[in-house]
Amino acid sequence: MEHQIKKVIIPVAGFGTRFLPATKAQPKEMLPIVDKPVIQYLVEEAVASGITEVIFVTGRGKRAIEDHFDNAGELEYYLERRGKHELARTVRDIAGLARFAFVRQKEPHGVGDALLQAFHLIGNEPVAVLFGDDVVYSKTPCLKQLMNVFEKYRNPIIALERVPKKLVSRYGVIDGKKVAHKTYSISKIVEKPSVADAPSNLSVVGKYILTPSVFEALKRIKPQKNQELYLTDALQSVITRGEGVHGFEFSGVRYDCGDKLGLLKAVVDYGLRHPELGSGLRKHLRTVKM
Ligand code: G1P
Repeated sequence: MEHQIKKVIIPVAGFGTRFLPATKAQPKEMLPIVDKPVIQYLVEEAVASGITEVIFVTGRGKRAIEDHFDNAGELEYYLERRGKHELARTVRDIAGLARFAFVRQKEPHGVGDALLQAFHLIGNEPVAVLFGDDVVYSKTPCLKQLMNVFEKYRNPIIALERVPKKLVSRYGVIDGKKVAHKTYSISKIVEKPSVADAPSNLSVVGKYILTPSVFEALKRIKPQKNQELYLTDALQSVITRGEGVHGFEFSGVRYDCGDKLGLLKAVVDYGLRHPELGSGLRKHLRTVKM
């Protein structure tokens, strides 16, 4: 099919300061939800949505991510020799999920700058973007839901979720008009507004389809005072130029794994859903005094 989106950019260069000291010597994206690192959930979501090429924008101290998506010959041999064939396959299959590319963001200049580091690998085509923090549990992968909306409008698409008003200042927030079931034509997008300034409680979740005009805007916009280039500013500039940007309130449960409580909730819920661990964890939770 023409214009089918085959590539995803996943920026993973951030320091993960919110999880210190756990992230002193390992990337926050490698923190586990039960038995898989957060980053693997994102790659699996992408692959289940039809993505074949994953571009990580990494930084210093992120080697573990490269190793996780590579073969681990010695480990696989060790497991096979002990008859643990299924586990060996589980380990091996990770490297075959997609084609992986790694580019470095040399200095922490924000997610907009991270995306520009991958620009030369994209060309003039739409691309998916997943942020390392947002894991969504859903029947249809969240990214696939966005792709379905993209098929209709062919412009940038943003995943949206309603949050309690008091939480809006953690996220990008949009204003817009509902144009179809769960779909909004966005008229304004602001990064981490105060509760009083927030145009709505529809928050931006870190899953996007971006078009070449967003990358053009990223090259044009100025960094914020903290020297960071915001994707939100580029999207706002695309909107201001009169090009459409749409948002979609996806179906599914979102876990903000960039936050300690969000990650804990993900661990509990995925643990409860786990075929081998679920009943034991349920039993344990019933005994917890609250
Ligand atoms: C980023 C985006 C923000 C979005 C959020 C979703 O913020 O800038 O608009 O709502 O991801 O997770 P960050 O979490 O990097 O501060």
